[in-house]
Amino acid sequence: MNTLLQDAQDSGARVGLTANAITINGGIPLRGRIQVKGAKNLVTKAMVAALLGDSPSELRSVPDISDVQVVRSLLEVHGVKVDNIDAETLRLDPVNIESAHFAEIDAHAGSSRIPILFCGPLLHRLGEAFIPDLGGCRIGDRPIDYHLEVLRKFGAIVDKQAGGIAMTAPAGLRGAKIELPYPSVGATEQVLLTATMAEGITELKGAAIEPEIMDLVNILQKMGAIITVDTDRVIRIEGVESLHGYSHTALFDRNEAASWAAAALATGGDIFVGGAHQPEMLTFLNVYRKIGGAFDIADDGIRFYHPGGKLKPVVIETDVHPGFMTDWQQPLVVALAKADGVSIVHETVYENRFGFTEALNEMGANIQIHKECLGGHPCRFGQRNFYHSAVISGPTELHGADIVVPDLRGGFSHLIAALSAQGTSRVSNVGIISRGYENFIGKLQQLGADFVLEG
Ligand code: EPZ
Repeated sequence: MNTLLQDAQDSGARVGLTANAITINGGIPLRGRIQVKGAKNLVTKAMVAALLGDSPSELRSVPDISDVQVVRSLLEVHGVKVDNIDAETLRLDPVNIESAHFAEIDAHAGSSRIPILFCGPLLHRLGEAFIPDLGGCRIGDRPIDYHLEVLRKFGAIVDKQAGGIAMTAPAGLRGAKIELPYPSVGATEQVLLTATMAEGITELKGAAIEPEIMDLVNILQKMGAIITVDTDRVIRIEGVESLHGYSHTALFDRNEAASWAAAALATGGDIFVGGAHQPEMLTFLNVYRKIGGAFDIADDGIRFYHPGGKLKPVVIETDVHPGFMTDWQQPLVVALAKADGVSIVHETVYENRFGFTEALNEMGANIQIHKECLGGHPCRFGQRNFYHSAVISGPTELHGADIVVPDLRGGFSHLIAALSAQGTSRVSNVGIISRGYENFIGKLQQLGADFVLEG
């Protein structure tokens, strides 16, 4: 292990990863055991939900990732006391909540999209909120029109200003009848975080029902909320006067589990992912098996491995839950590049999520992206100028190259490509990966990868 990695391990400076580039000698099967903790896309929202309580909350299985640090900083600038009970347990005390200055919020928001979810809780607790213009991975223009529409329906006054959005709720927030044009995860969370203490009943039609959403419902119910989820994506919330703190162990990160499963397949390896549960990964496991991957379900995790033989091509159409998650396709595309035949991925959630394939083609993959809806049903991007279908022709042998990480999941796909390629690759801008993958450098080391960190 080189000194930089040792230093990083010793200092625990895992979040944000001081190194920004990693040189990987590929072609080595990843073998071993890693552990996933709470889901990035639940834990960050659970931290925001603590704002609604009139007493402290305790959140367990919190991963050490920079997206969590961003939300922690944003909570602290609003006067919330956040302490580590242990390395993976947070105590969040919102009793002294206060307004924050715009510059402080902007300084801490970074590229996160989570600040938009602070609106409902801050309007309830303080009667005002200010949200800086948002970041997030460049996988489409990531609008927030659904969020603003929802907040207006609850009675918020939304004022677009230079650098962000100011909101007030002079008459308080009242329950509303809302129908989302698309089952947006973020907009559904916006409704949940705002409706629980709004006056009266809220009815949300066209809601997202991802496992992370349902775990947020679990948390809000623990706090005293009254929420029903019907079979037809209709969520009803009866507003209550107040909510108290919660004690909760976060749902595991199925996106991270799927990423390491894809790494096992692409490198011909065998990885036990501790903490992974079958129910939330059902659709992924079916596709994994159809490609030729194998898995064994245990009580404490799932073993993912390449059983030998050729990988087979598949047609994947991403969709909202319980469909194939959009966050699962990037890491799996590398294995598809090695499959014996032509695969198709039709990305129907985001309009521009195949930028990462350019680097894979530079490494020898044969991936073409198209504007048409290929392989499945016509989607909302079909008649517009969005390259949202990918055709992956295999088998191709990947060779090492210099690649720059574009975004979180595409970045992990680049890591997998470098690990499975013949030869050496230099992967730069890897700090982005620590936004959503805890200690991925230490995990690569645990799994026998051959690499050197660069300063
Ligand atoms: C969440 O993003 C996740 N991020 C994403 O994971 C995930 O891919 C996505 O849900 C879908 O499952 C977090 O939870 C932090 P959406 P979110 O609102 O809430 C459009 C990762 O890598 N839309 O369901 O932003 C939007 O443009 C990330 O962990 C509007 O048009 O996703 C997209 O096309 C990537 N207007 C679609 O809806 C809006 O106001 C789905 O977005 C909001 C969304």
